[in-house]
Amino acid sequence: MGSQLKVTVDSSNHVIDKNIYGHFAEHLGRCIYGGLWVGPDSTIPNTRGLRNDVIDALKRMSVPILRWPGGCFADEYHWQDGVGSHEARPKMINNHWGGIVENNHFGTHEFFDLCEQIGAQPYVCGNVGSGSIREMQQWVEYITFDGDSPMANLRKQNGQQSPWNLKYFGIGNENWGCGGRMRAEYYADLYRQYSTYVRNYGAERMVKIAAGPRADDYHWTEVLMREAGYFMDGLALHYYTRVRDHSIVIENPDRNRIYLPDPHANRGQAVEFDERDWFAIMKAAYRTEELVERHSAIMDRYDPDKRVALIIDEWGTWFEVEPGTNPAFLYQQNTMRDAVSAAISLNIFNNHSDRVRMANIAQIVNVLQAVILTEGDKLVLTPTYHVFEMYKVHQGATMASVELNTSSYAFGEETLPQISASASLDASGKLNITLCNVHPHGSATIDCSIGGYAARRATGRVLVSSSMNAHNTFDSPDIVKPETFTDVRIGENGFSATIPPMSVVSLTLEA
Ligand code: AHR
Repeated sequence: MGSQLKVTVDSSNHVIDKNIYGHFAEHLGRCIYGGLWVGPDSTIPNTRGLRNDVIDALKRMSVPILRWPGGCFADEYHWQDGVGSHEARPKMINNHWGGIVENNHFGTHEFFDLCEQIGAQPYVCGNVGSGSIREMQQWVEYITFDGDSPMANLRKQNGQQSPWNLKYFGIGNENWGCGGRMRAEYYADLYRQYSTYVRNYGAERMVKIAAGPRADDYHWTEVLMREAGYFMDGLALHYYTRVRDHSIVIENPDRNRIYLPDPHANRGQAVEFDERDWFAIMKAAYRTEELVERHSAIMDRYDPDKRVALIIDEWGTWFEVEPGTNPAFLYQQNTMRDAVSAAISLNIFNNHSDRVRMANIAQIVNVLQAVILTEGDKLVLTPTYHVFEMYKVHQGATMASVELNTSSYAFGEETLPQISASASLDASGKLNITLCNVHPHGSATIDCSIGGYAARRATGRVLVSSSMNAHNTFDSPDIVKPETFTDVRIGENGFSATIPPMSVVSLTLEA
């Protein structure tokens, strides 16, 4: 059976926030050091310490927003240790990520330089777990105040005369876990207190983002929205796409959950996997929709006008690390499976973009579902990079609604929708539709009718491989890369297309 898709274009519809295509960079493994930052004295070509090859690739893909410095690292980070001359910066232990010694050479100035070089908005996450209100208040003053104040003067002394533009600020990270093992009720009060002192010194009003729930912790969302929703602009959900959950969740009587990492859990391999683990990841990616809908339903009760954004500021696949690499560095390869699961998630974010107004895949380079991997001076773009590049047409475009009656992909006793899709109308009047076929063996025929738009011409690109484990390596960097897609036929009211197995397709329709 084929699939039927109905796309309705309505130019008065809301815009898909470009920040849905955001990224996340943490002081973890080789994300910052080696991945983004090599230092000005490196033999790897760089601009003020930031590697040129990575910057160029990120610019081509288009990064609207970048979250930093963590993650778990954020709640141990003391920003004052990361400003001033490199030689004078104190070292610290990166307790969460392998206990390695961090030299603080990449700090506030280097982060804002990175954002400027790649053209991204900065999104800074402050320390609630082990920091102080004063420390957070002073960081905001240091970054954004344009007058004669102790922190603004310190910034000038450190070489930056004018304040930076900072709009997005996170009040802690995963404060139910690595950010302090707090109860929702306690964090809600801390959120109210800390966020009070995150002042609006700059031209823009600060978008304040509360640490939100882990996956399906609806209690956290309920309490946060009830007790602190009025004071926040965003609530940050974290959801990782895993073969199996690797946390031990202890439910205690007052419904506050305790999450502990399970040291014996096997997260599955990034490259060596079979159809069982392919299916598990597709199923986990589709689960994003249920999480978004259920958290949104709670938010709707407290915030029917959708003023508070649901922000998915950590998402992506999480597997065992590559053999022989440091287990705390979370370095994993990236295959067609990552590409298709990213496409599912991005389609879900687009389709729920009335409430979901930012998402940040974890993480930008060398960690988890990275878009770029580096090794010394070598760089490789992953299949996930290509999905982000193909989907960038949706950034800031007007959402077009999709109704999908899809064929199924069955494995064992279970089934999943074979096709996932989303669509938007860009500023130049082109209708972009992104689709993926999650079936590893079966192609999918799609009949699409389009309302409110008379399409006369269609072009497309496809990311596809005959192997679910296909990936790019430093020696063979172009195994998975987009190609021209021609299997699309314009009809009277829309188009028909045949989508190959295990593929991601982007179509551009012109009137
Ligand atoms: O992205 C890796 C880690 O996952 C982050 O530091 C933390 O917030 C999450 O648990």
